[in-house]
Amino acid sequence: MAIFVDSSKYHEIRKYCDWGICSGVTMNPKILADDGAMTPEQMEKETRRIAELVKAPVSVELVSETTAEMLLEARVYHAWEPDYIVIKVPMCPAGMPAIHALTEEGIRTNVTCMMNFNQAYLAALAGATYVSLFMGRVKDMGYDPLPIVEQVRQSLDREGLRARIIAGSIRHPQDVSDALRAGAHIVTVTPAVLEKMIQNPQTDRTIAEFATMWEKFQAQR
Ligand code: E4P
Repeated sequence: MAIFVDSSKYHEIRKYCDWGICSGVTMNPKILADDGAMTPEQMEKETRRIAELVKAPVSVELVSETTAEMLLEARVYHAWEPDYIVIKVPMCPAGMPAIHALTEEGIRTNVTCMMNFNQAYLAALAGATYVSLFMGRVKDMGYDPLPIVEQVRQSLDREGLRARIIAGSIRHPQDVSDALRAGAHIVTVTPAVLEKMIQNPQTDRTIAEFATMWEKFQAQR
């Protein structure tokens, strides 16, 4: 089990590396847009800086729409840091042959934006390194994502497929423990949710109580 950080901001990612909990990073075009527009040169520089920081998988998402363009785009990103860059391929008809071709070339893929078992199973058969199930967005459609995570994990294990499940679109701390219990190998978590994961009001009260007791004890000596 592992946590990836769902962000493209170097300073945020460094914080969670300092916590010792960052086993990888996932980005997507929405995260990049939210974090501020970058030129292609800046994007390469920042992504390489992040890869060198985490020394772990960094998923960069394709924006091309045809298979041929996806492959060209993927090779550019992969060349930035071949040891660490993982190519995020959106699940779509043009993406399927791209997953297969990149796998044949030895380039790791993270197949993304998936909402159901069939998508994840096909991506795993095509050779995906990671299959990303978007829990929050499945819930937005009114479905429970946990049986999907369970079913995908059972199939991967039963058939000896190498893909690892990433649970994404995490909205609450509870989603993290639910995803791991259901069989996700990895959960990719935004800084906002990571901050909530260490919070508990009873912890704060307990720390304050201990500090007060210690101060009283010191004053009596
Ligand atoms: C995962 O790889 C994605 O970047 C992310 O979790 C998407 O989640 P969203 O529903 O917040 O866009």
